[in-house]
Amino acid sequence: MRIVLVGPPGAGKGTQAAFLAKNLSIPHISTGDLFRANISKQTELGKLAKSYMDKGELVPDEVTIAMAKDRMEQPDAEQGFLLDGFPRNVSQAEALDVTLQDESMNLDAVLDLEVPEDEVVKRIAGRRICRNDSAHVFHVTYKKPKQEGVCDACGGELYQRDDDSEETVRKRLEVYHTQTEPIIDYYKAQGLVVTISALGPVEEVTQRAMEALKREDDDK
Ligand code: AP5
Repeated sequence: MRIVLVGPPGAGKGTQAAFLAKNLSIPHISTGDLFRANISKQTELGKLAKSYMDKGELVPDEVTIAMAKDRMEQPDAEQGFLLDGFPRNVSQAEALDVTLQDESMNLDAVLDLEVPEDEVVKRIAGRRICRNDSAHVFHVTYKKPKQEGVCDACGGELYQRDDDSEETVRKRLEVYHTQTEPIIDYYKAQGLVVTISALGPVEEVTQRAMEALKREDDDK
């Protein structure tokens, strides 16, 4: 399956993507994680991305689209992928359509995670990420690590993302409403959007998502 995951910052896209990708045996491709990997390796792309991410703004389309395309062309993505954080505006969605059409492929579903803004703010404020692997995500209240500040999966140090400050989160939410939400209408016009509530325990949201994706697949 080829799936796009969409939702506001802190909706739980990364959290759900980890489970969904495993259940569906497809790679989880997160442009945010790819940028953070570049930042920790101090590449030129990482330096450029950081200057935008720290302000809560989108990294320019040209570099983002090239990076996402390169990742989607890796052998593990041949049979499908779960995109998290890409596309993030209508031009990226159009570029993705062109890339898929060139390969005679198409998207199967766009899974839209709905969460009220006050919950999103609580989720982001308590989020802690592992320095070794940004796919290892915890929360000081909702998903406590066994030992404070230490990753359960690999023992790495847990830290708070630079772009999780209150001011930057406010900007990221504004960018989400103005630039990312329009892709939901773009994909509704293609009949691809499945909206679920992302409230409740993580496992319940995963189950809701799997059922919604199955219904969408059966309807085709
Ligand atoms: P990115 O990394 O994509 O961040 P985001 O979209 O803002 O989303 P987050 O990672 O903040 O949240 P999430 O929805 O994954 O939530 P999570 O699962 O962690 O992008 C960062 C930046 O990179 C952008 O601002 C931009 O600058 C740049 N960028 C990335 N892609 C780009 C693109 N395509 N174009 C241009 N620029 C781009 O969950 C949050 C917390 O909640 C966690 O602590 C988790 O444990 C907890 N939680 C999750 N689910 C639940 C639940 N059900 N109940 C309780 N707690 C929960």
